[in-house]
Amino acid sequence: MSLEKKIRAAEKALEFVETGMKIGLGSGSTANEFIKLLSLKIKEGFDIEGVVTSQDTENLAKESNIPLTSLQEAKSLDITIDGTDEVDSNLSLIKGGGGALLREKIVAYNSEKLIIIADDSKKVDKLGNFKLPVEVSIYESSATNLNIIRKLEEVGYYGSSSIRKSENTNFITDSGNYIYDFSLGSIEEPYIVDQLLNSIPGVIGHGLFIDLADIVIIANEESVEILSK
Ligand code: 5RP
Repeated sequence: MSLEKKIRAAEKALEFVETGMKIGLGSGSTANEFIKLLSLKIKEGFDIEGVVTSQDTENLAKESNIPLTSLQEAKSLDITIDGTDEVDSNLSLIKGGGGALLREKIVAYNSEKLIIIADDSKKVDKLGNFKLPVEVSIYESSATNLNIIRKLEEVGYYGSSSIRKSENTNFITDSGNYIYDFSLGSIEEPYIVDQLLNSIPGVIGHGLFIDLADIVIIANEESVEILSK
């Protein structure tokens, strides 16, 4: 994804931001471009408070002098701006390539509006080419992984999974869990997979974001396309 496209999508998202807003700050390289642009608005006098979705985002927001708050203090957020790994025409998403899916979903759920910024490579007819990240408690994680595989098979998804690695060790999320990435092929019924995963003990969260995104800004070579509900 070219940097120009990320910046173009982030610039468009900035048009939805007004002074006085409380804003969820997503994670990943595209969300980072938005954070950098937001810091310029704050320099110009915008009164904004942000809630971060990862340690990396917190580091960047602090470097960028963005005032931060928590969901507990803010109660609810006006808007969240975040990236995605895939988006379909229903604005369903697969997120979590960067491992921040749990906090991203919590923040998105507490926002009046979720705006997704991405380049055109993220737009798909069907979700599932990107491996679906599932955040799993470290406690007996292999058993949870097997339960996920078994339950998915019951609804017709015969895939494989692998535990996410960071260098030679298991990747640990900001919330202290593992991630298993599932290759399922085309996800025909994201709603069913969403509910099924939510029902398995040991699953802390997963990267399917259904009925959460309100607006998706897709940057292509020359301009942006806006998808909305
Ligand atoms: C992190 C995410 C990111 O938003 C997603 O991976 C997209 O990242 P990028 O903008 O770098 O392509 O969900 O958990």
